[in-house]
Amino acid sequence: MTKDKEKIEWYHDFIDRDYTPRDDDLVALFYFDKADSVSVDDLIGRLASESSIGTWTTLETLDDEIFKKRARAFWNTNNHVKISYPLELWELDNVPQLMSGIAGNIFGMKAVRNLRLIDTTLPVDYVNGSKGPHMGVDAIKRIFKKDVGPITSCVPKPKIGMTTDQHVQVAIDVWSGGIDAIKDDENLTSQVWNRFEDRVTKMAKARDKVQNETGEIKDAFINVTAETHEMERRVKLLHDNGFRYFMVDVVTTGFAAVQTLRNLAGDLDMAIHAHRAMHATFTKHYTHGISMYMLAKLMRLIGVDQIHIGTVVGKLDSPKQDVLDMRDMLLETEVKEHPDRNLYQNWGKIKGTLPVASGGLHPGVLPEVMKVYGTTNMALQVGGGIHGHPNGSHDGAKATVQALEAVRDGITLEEKAESHKELRQALEKWGYIQPI
Ligand code: 6PG
Ligand code: MG
Repeated sequence: MTKDKEKIEWYHDFIDRDYTPRDDDLVALFYFDKADSVSVDDLIGRLASESSIGTWTTLETLDDEIFKKRARAFWNTNNHVKISYPLELWELDNVPQLMSGIAGNIFGMKAVRNLRLIDTTLPVDYVNGSKGPHMGVDAIKRIFKKDVGPITSCVPKPKIGMTTDQHVQVAIDVWSGGIDAIKDDENLTSQVWNRFEDRVTKMAKARDKVQNETGEIKDAFINVTAETHEMERRVKLLHDNGFRYFMVDVVTTGFAAVQTLRNLAGDLDMAIHAHRAMHATFTKHYTHGISMYMLAKLMRLIGVDQIHIGTVVGKLDSPKQDVLDMRDMLLETEVKEHPDRNLYQNWGKIKGTLPVASGGLHPGVLPEVMKVYGTTNMALQVGGGIHGHPNGSHDGAKATVQALEAVRDGITLEEKAESHKELRQALEKWGYIQPI
């Protein structure tokens, strides 16, 4: 043991630049900005210590066996540090516990000016202890019986305020215009003018009617966000009404709640649509917080089937490289390390999660979105770009579907619009603008 009994503090004992992480170590990558009062080593030692076994001073209760369980800062350069953690520090299938360590007290230490958890390599033994998505990419085939994506969805707008009947009428217009799913907005739950139970039963009736008329499979991402037991009740109600999906705001409800719902989704053979509302409070600034990449990774680990990651061209902040990195991380089985951006990851037996592009989309930008994503293994969500159509939501839905057909057939939107008036009207209104 290297503990020096004379010392008051032992933070530097958590730095080991000769250490090569074991295959079953968990490795976290942080960006850091230290307070003036400490050295870089003082800071990275603190990060490894406080996020594993240590505290501010030497301890008489420490023994060799416990010391072996410490984290080690083993690499640092240009304000980035990698810290390794023995697997045995972590409880499998417990994301709250993981975050209480690697994203816990360390963010509040006086020695830290800024700190950002960029990524973590989760060892295969850790990953395989989690459930991951119940359906993931297979939802395209299993639920919608389509050979290829994208799954198309639409949020009724105005985002909240419509009565249940108004909401359901918009859903009928959109479904019958060719869109696969109706998505609730993140702040629609069970308000007095649109109660959850009322929405579910009326939406189920409307869905069955549209399915019979169109011969197409329709579903809805209805938002169950609430207290945890209430969410379970709402999920069961959706299941009893024949929905295959439910939607949840995964940040505001929290990791534990999402894990509980994932278990239920498996029992009921349902898929989870994950909305990330509130993520930008800690993901937006690149020098502090937790990256959206890390959040999306945790959500694949827990097992949401689809999650919003941005559009590049829409109204929400989502730089292209970030979206591409997240797309790969969500869909691939093995992810290579990109030194400044992310670490290596092997996903073991965990299925892929579908990325969702949403926020400020309309027919004119869909070719660009599909080019950025470069895959049809995805879900697309269009709200205002459907309900703002000069002829209303039904024609807005048709224009969206027509734009996607043009992409699929390799023709331009103008060519398609020559014989499709809904798309032509959409292009006349919005052209190719990228909303801010
Ligand atoms: C997200 C958004 C997204 C958006 C809309 C889409 O995280 O991606 O919350 O869902 O808010 O509800 O609506 P528009 O298509 O009108 O932007
Ligand atoms: Mg929204």
